[in-house]
Amino acid sequence: MTTNIAVLVSGRGSNLQSIIDNIENGYIQNAQITVVVSDVSDAYALERAREHGITDVYIDPSDFESKKEYELEVLEILKDHGADMILLAGYMRLLGKTIIEAYSNRIINIHPALLPAFKGLHAQEQAFEYGVKVAGCTVHFVDEGMDTGPIIIQKCVPVLDDDTADSLSARILEQEHKIFPEAVKLFTEGKLKVEGRIVVHA
Ligand code: GAR
Repeated sequence: MTTNIAVLVSGRGSNLQSIIDNIENGYIQNAQITVVVSDVSDAYALERAREHGITDVYIDPSDFESKKEYELEVLEILKDHGADMILLAGYMRLLGKTIIEAYSNRIINIHPALLPAFKGLHAQEQAFEYGVKVAGCTVHFVDEGMDTGPIIIQKCVPVLDDDTADSLSARILEQEHKIFPEAVKLFTEGKLKVEGRIVVHA
């Protein structure tokens, strides 16, 4: 059975690209991205989707009276494209109940820090400024908290003496592009089981 994936984005879309590439090169099998949805009109991720023949949709959240109304519209689009699961690939909005309840344990996010440290925006800068010696990234299921859901994979990267926030971010991003497809592969192969907060890899 093919898993239909919807990807929500807000920006440049390098993590979206890593999923596209790993589907195209056969690392992730029996899966396809059926739609990419952005809350930002000029997100480069939309162009990446188009280049690969994937439907791209921009939805302006300010067109809606409430977050719920906005998310109902997103859900409608996902339904139209038969989405079985959702990937958050640099989607910079906190997901609400409406989408989370419809896709419980079927939403996966990539975050550029070793959670539970440095949640929220600009996590790499937060880590750099805090002076950590080890940084990294996390792929996790999404629950209603901000970056709090059950952890699927984490990867550490060292912080070097001559790092800047930018060089550290780039080193973290390289690892994001590995662990995000790895988690999607495990999920689509039915190899992830969520037991409370713990994700067991079968
Ligand atoms: C990535 O570093 C991703 O981990 C981060 O935004 C960047 C998006 O880059 N996500 C978050 O901070 C979510 N809280 P991309 O658009 O090139 O994938």
